[in-house]
Amino acid sequence: MAKTEDYKYLSGFGSEFATEALPGALPEGQNTPQVCPYGLYAEQLSGTAFTAPRETNKRTWFYRIRPSVTHRPFAPIKHAFLESDFRKRHPNPNQLRWKPFDIPKEETDFVAGLRTVCGAGDPLSRNGCAIYVYVCNASMGNSAIYNSDGDFLIVPQQGTLEITTEFGRMRVAPNEICVVQQGMKFSVGVSGPSRGYILEVYNGHFVLPNLGPIGANGLASPRDFLTPVAWYEDRDVSEYRTISKYQGHLFESIQDHSPFDVVAWHGNYVPYKYDLKHFMVINATAFDHADPSIFTVLTCPSTKPGTAIADFVIFPPRWAVQEHTFRPPYYHRNCMSEFMGLIFGNYEAKEEGFMPGGASLHSMMTPHGPDAQCFETASTVELTPVRVADGTQSFMFETCLGLGLTDWGEEKCCKVDADYYKCWQGLKKNFDPNWKPTPKA
Ligand SMILES: [Fe+2]
Repeated sequence: MAKTEDYKYLSGFGSEFATEALPGALPEGQNTPQVCPYGLYAEQLSGTAFTAPRETNKRTWFYRIRPSVTHRPFAPIKHAFLESDFRKRHPNPNQLRWKPFDIPKEETDFVAGLRTVCGAGDPLSRNGCAIYVYVCNASMGNSAIYNSDGDFLIVPQQGTLEITTEFGRMRVAPNEICVVQQGMKFSVGVSGPSRGYILEVYNGHFVLPNLGPIGANGLASPRDFLTPVAWYEDRDVSEYRTISKYQGHLFESIQDHSPFDVVAWHGNYVPYKYDLKHFMVINATAFDHADPSIFTVLTCPSTKPGTAIADFVIFPPRWAVQEHTFRPPYYHRNCMSEFMGLIFGNYEAKEEGFMPGGASLHSMMTPHGPDAQCFETASTVELTPVRVADGTQSFMFETCLGLGLTDWGEEKCCKVDADYYKCWQGLKKNFDPNWKPTPKA
């Protein structure tokens, strides 16, 4: 494991970065000189079509010891818990809640520990998303993975991830997130039992949400996104495994060296991390309950304006000050699908049963809202300014797509809480046709 001071970052979101681990390793004034400095190879990684509009065009130039093409042929490898066919099972519209997912006792690395819970669409047509949990306890050693199908947004819940990428090294602890985009090779190191959640999008890339009338500042600030500086190792290995997730399946190729041999790079297609504690919370300060879109950290837009293939939303510690208002989340039915997870603490609308390392899914148009206990308390409590969600971080992956569950998500994980629906059964009928408003003093 590298020391904390070994992790160095560049700050910014969507920026053009340039970084070199050896002085002068980046060619000056051009991308592909006849001979690159230090005898390096130039290689471009494209994150959008070559002809994508300038404002969305993504690519990075690597200057590496060997080009990525120096590997033996790919061969399929089996993975019992990866799934990309989300129509296999019969649909299930019920409210679902999972108890915390088990971390295996046997040695399991990040790739072996991937479990697909649900998803939509498919990676071949590049439309859809998938939701995973990862449960692992061992580092990947001499192996790396890249995702040919889309981008991974990784949310650690337990255990810090030491992620080596072609761009450099990132350390990502619980309450931080990272995004590793399509095609970027990475290897995950852990130092004990580790668990977290992953949102994969097939369509495109995450961007910061528009701020509209909020103005130029607020929510997640671009300067708080961190991208690793160039770091390389010149390490020959007899059998280095590079795994590609391609069309929902894993393939392995062997090469004779570490793929983390990029001495310098420049570009705007990069991995990055973000500490959720930096999120500037916007909220209602007079009355009523604002929609949870005010808590959007990142969004992967669809082609329909304002409608996301997937949003990453958090519910951070904050003040609640609204007057004459039922302050918890309102009851609702949504045209989007909502998958929630809990990093630590208790979620405000359900103090029991929704546990760190567990999850819930409220599919499109399936009713949900505060449980009976929460409704009773919030309907009668004195409305002084109070802190909400201190010591807590829950999040939501929200998608405009319908989510299909996998065998593991609905059965094999053995964590579905069959009693979840009961939390609403105690909601009483309070209707009184003779009700009169209380006279104002
Ligand atoms: Fe909801």
